[in-house]
Amino acid sequence: MQGVVLAAGQGVRMKSELPKVLFSLCGQPMVRYAVAALRDAGVAEPVVVVGEHAASIEAVLGAHVRYAQQPVPRGTGDALRAALPLLPQQGDLLVTCADMPLLTGATLTALAQWHQHSGAAITVLTAQLPNPQGYGRLVRDEGQVIAIVEERDADPAQKQIHEVNTGVYCLRLQDVRPLLRQLTAENAQGEYYLTDLVAAVVAQGGKVETLPVEDFDEAMGVNDRWQLAQAQQRMQQRILRAWALQGVSLLDPASTYIDVTVQLAPDVTLLPGVVLEGETTVASGCVLGPNLRATDSHFEEGVQAQYAVLNQASVGSRAQLGPFCYLRPGSVIGADVKIGDFVEIKNSTIGAQSKVPHLSYVGDARLGERVNMGCGSITVNFDGVSKHETIIGNDVFVGCNVNLVAPVQVQEGAYLAAGSTITDDVHKQALAIARHRQINKEGYAAVLQKKHGEQAVGGKESQRGNVP
Ligand code: UD1
Ligand code: CA
Repeated sequence: MQGVVLAAGQGVRMKSELPKVLFSLCGQPMVRYAVAALRDAGVAEPVVVVGEHAASIEAVLGAHVRYAQQPVPRGTGDALRAALPLLPQQGDLLVTCADMPLLTGATLTALAQWHQHSGAAITVLTAQLPNPQGYGRLVRDEGQVIAIVEERDADPAQKQIHEVNTGVYCLRLQDVRPLLRQLTAENAQGEYYLTDLVAAVVAQGGKVETLPVEDFDEAMGVNDRWQLAQAQQRMQQRILRAWALQGVSLLDPASTYIDVTVQLAPDVTLLPGVVLEGETTVASGCVLGPNLRATDSHFEEGVQAQYAVLNQASVGSRAQLGPFCYLRPGSVIGADVKIGDFVEIKNSTIGAQSKVPHLSYVGDARLGERVNMGCGSITVNFDGVSKHETIIGNDVFVGCNVNLVAPVQVQEGAYLAAGSTITDDVHKQALAIARHRQINKEGYAAVLQKKHGEQAVGGKESQRGNVP
């Protein structure tokens, strides 16, 4: 089976610099869905017809498909013509549009089977729509399809027809090749319509068949951003339902967003407000949310994370994150680690069983196992010009509000006294204190009170809140 995706249209109704077929839903550009559906239907090397935006589309799809160029978008018929040199002389061809992300491989397979069974020259995938506006209508005579008429070319009676063309076809190449060359652009849009093939086949005495699509979401074409939003919602429903049936608990599907590229294991629980994006993976036993956004991140078994933002981070088994933590690219969190509230980690490894429980910044650091980062302790990784590394060995105890001025190394088992600013390396098992020693001046309160009292004599009466 051969397959073509038409993707050279301008997509003017999107009102964007970005070509329409590169708009994403659920984390994947529309044109990828079209290619995937053809592959699912057994097309080994789909042909994608590209135009003005060829370079950006080729950058997204890569070398796994073949490309045909349609330099000027002169209509869907012209687009298919552009693909002909890459296709065999004979055999069956599936044609789809790149703006139908909900179309499935199963539907394409059913279309191809019906086409082969019926022996038609062209089989059109159709839909009965309550509101057919904007779609081409199937015109029948005594039950037989005789033409497809575009909305803009339809007369009032034809506009009443609810049976529409989805824009997906199965064609017999040897029958349609000559007819494609004969298409004309005599219509309201001055374009070469692929849909005119239907009347051309009928005129030759050939056979046109139709197959109604079972789920008419699949027929949905995305032409503007409202249709994109609706398609996104349907696709999201599909993804959520599929994961639910594979053992993922969703407390609130309406506030859960999972990209099509994400992988989840059974027995994952997603609480409200979870957004999982890109290549994110989640192992079993994880409880994520409420409110978490993870992009290209990995969760091993049994992680619990709430109110967290992760980007290119990985989290070891049974770690606990949040509430309110931010794991930036290169964060590698070990097993049984606790990352608590108001903690930011960047490009750092946190060894197993370590704790960074409150109000810390850890950047460009390597922490060993069982390290305790006291409340408010931070790595000072940036000197205004470049970034430097902090290395902390196993079992180090970092007191509250310690600054580690990188590059600096603290060897295993050392203690850093609270409030210290550590600029020099600390040896194994040592205690580092890097702060001024406290001085207590006994009875000094009386001195201060006397001083304040004298000031008050010369000026106004003491104000509220002053020392009496
Ligand atoms: C098309 C059909 C219409 C059908 C509808 C279903 C025609 C003439 N009309 O209309 O009957 O109901 O799809 O959604 O075919 N493209 C090119 N080159 C071009 C023009 C378009 O590659 O010169 C591509 C587009 O990128 C798009 C697809 O063909 O992926 C469909 O084009 P679009 O302009 O969206 O067609 P519709 O007006 O929706
Ligand atoms: Ca369309």
